[in-house]
Amino acid sequence: MADERLIVALDFHKFDEVKNLVNDLGDSVIFYKVGMELFYSVGAGVIDWLKSQNKKVFLDLKLHDIPNTVAGGLCSLMNLGADILNVHAAGGFTMMKNAAEALREESAKRGIVKPKLIAITVLTSINQAEWCGALKISEQVVQFAKLAQDAGLDGVVASPQEAKLIRENCGENFLIVTPGIRPAGSDINDQSRISTPAAALKNGANYLVIGRPIRAAENPKLAAEKILAEMSEV
Ligand code: C5P
Repeated sequence: MADERLIVALDFHKFDEVKNLVNDLGDSVIFYKVGMELFYSVGAGVIDWLKSQNKKVFLDLKLHDIPNTVAGGLCSLMNLGADILNVHAAGGFTMMKNAAEALREESAKRGIVKPKLIAITVLTSINQAEWCGALKISEQVVQFAKLAQDAGLDGVVASPQEAKLIRENCGENFLIVTPGIRPAGSDINDQSRISTPAAALKNGANYLVIGRPIRAAENPKLAAEKILAEMSEV
């Protein structure tokens, strides 16, 4: 039943809550996302623990600073053993290029597998009404995706609604990670540019990041299984 394309977001601030959910979901979930809420409160130990449970980790700290600082920060984070790290594409081409090069060089020097590096395009919580960019959101997302690809990144984080356009523009080997996933009938919360798990996969997403629809469900394991069943049909 497990499907590596499902990444469950561990947006908790207590280690016990993480352990309870991961133990509850058991073998059905392989990939977890550690974001700022958890990392800032619990620290790197949570990544060690997830790795000891044979889980994969997307460390979602969304770095955004000058090129030298981001490259150095990523090299420090690489020591923690996460499988995916990320930066904001809005940090610019040079920032992304230096970051990708630093990770490639450092991982080769240390003899470790390079974590995938992906870029946040436009947050899935932003809608057209509050968007203040000159381009349409979808055009900006595609522009960021192409910039990230040219800079040597492995992929992007984007809304499932933009996955198809990114796939068309960036080809088959570019990773597309989509939060903003809501199974039919579930609460939207603060997300805006959403779609169902099946629609996201059909539009070309490689990984689905799902938090509250599983974490806040009355029965998280059942919620995950329903999502996995929907995913298995695509
Ligand atoms: O609970 P929900 O399913 O909305 O969680 C989505 C997760 O994906 C959150 O941890 C959020 O930080 C993250 N995320 C996002 N939009 C992005 C990048 C990451 O919602 N563009």
